[in-house]
Amino acid sequence: MSNSVTLTDNRNGKQYEFPILDSTLGPSVIDISNFYPTTGMFTFDRGYTSTAMCRSKITFIDGEKGILKHRGYSIEWLAENKNFLDVVYLLLNKKLPTKEELGSFKQELKTRSFINEKMIRLFSAFPDKAHPMAVLQACVATLSTYYSRDMNFDNPIEYMELAKRLVAKMPTLAAFYYRHSMGYPLIYPDLDRGFTENFLYMMRSFPHSRVDLKRIEVKALDSVLMLHADHEQNASTTTVRTVGSTHSHPYSCISAGIGALWGHAHGGANEGVIKQLEMIGTVENVDKYIKKAKDKNDPFRLMGFGHRVYKNYDPRARVLKKMRDELISEIDIDENLLKVANRIEEIALNDDYFVSRNLYPNVDFNSGLILKALKIPTDMFAVLFVMGRVPGWMAQWMELKEQDTIKIVRPRQLYIGPKDSLNENNE
Ligand code: SDX
Repeated sequence: MSNSVTLTDNRNGKQYEFPILDSTLGPSVIDISNFYPTTGMFTFDRGYTSTAMCRSKITFIDGEKGILKHRGYSIEWLAENKNFLDVVYLLLNKKLPTKEELGSFKQELKTRSFINEKMIRLFSAFPDKAHPMAVLQACVATLSTYYSRDMNFDNPIEYMELAKRLVAKMPTLAAFYYRHSMGYPLIYPDLDRGFTENFLYMMRSFPHSRVDLKRIEVKALDSVLMLHADHEQNASTTTVRTVGSTHSHPYSCISAGIGALWGHAHGGANEGVIKQLEMIGTVENVDKYIKKAKDKNDPFRLMGFGHRVYKNYDPRARVLKKMRDELISEIDIDENLLKVANRIEEIALNDDYFVSRNLYPNVDFNSGLILKALKIPTDMFAVLFVMGRVPGWMAQWMELKEQDTIKIVRPRQLYIGPKDSLNENNE
């Protein structure tokens, strides 16, 4: 029996055979790369929900079982035993670092955490209330002008340098813009502090006062960054790969990924969670909004619930819930916001509308609450998502470059427009 499927066109009885490619984990795929030349038809898959767009060894997700693994390590084990930079190293170097390797990696990131001073002038080009995601997208595209005008990156050493630079500079860019937007003096990276702690230091410190940083806050932020590090071929990663397939500059690929992540259906949902909880306001109002979320004629959706792939509890949300509870036992969080969030989760986990549609809390539900407790400005939540996701995006871009033949991403369409314009002869 051949490892293939046979398709029969019932209109004329014609049969077509397509090979099955087996995975190491999860579903096999039917290779339809030659579907059009073979059948003269395209396949149609709105939102690519049943389409594999690449081969990858980086991240595995099982949506039904709620499984997430990075290069074979479960997210639960990584969250329990490792830190964000361990996972960054794992994603970029295909293995977890030894103690010595991690030490040098940390040092390499520290020495790359500064940005060219001319970049700071860019901030003044933005209006006061510019959304930080728009600024970050522009900054990353601008970074490409400081490194290698030509696009022909053709060796892994160059890739790794580009990746380390971007991972290292994201916290500085984010903190610098925040300080600039508030009219505060810029606080430069302190090379005696760890990667995650340094971000909170750059956000909170003032020349005249000791910065107040609790260990649990650094740990909570480190968890948020780790749990956002990579997530298979989601909308923004697909964007990075799509732009990468044209051989564009990697930083323009990442800038495009930031644009995709910004949407509230994707990485903008963590900001949406808090804004929604604040809009609902009280536990008494929750039922009214649950009703709106269930109403097909109402565009209102519960932010932080549902997922394209997870039809089970998002494993990251489970880890973050534990972290959220640990954090709020040590620092104060808006009690009312928490009560509203707990009431929504309690209803959603029992109400048939949500249960029958497998709508569970996703990564954004609890990350929004943690970032709020860390006093990160709400409109910067997606920026923190980017800070966590950059290593994943760069690992996916590097994997794309390492694959022998990069085919430019060029889907087709089901054309439903006019056959020809009757006006052609009259114009
Ligand atoms: C991320 O892909 C990734 O991996 C993304 C991500 C990553 O790490 O990169 O995991 C990060 O983006 C997480 C998702 C964050 N987004 C939100 O929390 C926004 C709220 N969620 C929804 O917008 C929605 O659930 C999506 C966009 C996340 C998923 O959309 P789908 O899979 O296209 O869901 P669907 O539209 O097919 O919904 C199926 C049904 C529909 O109802 P019916 O037509 O069956 O009657 O569920 C309903 C939807 O109306 N539904 C919701 C809902 N999400 C889906 N109803 C109320 N509230 C919601 N949140």
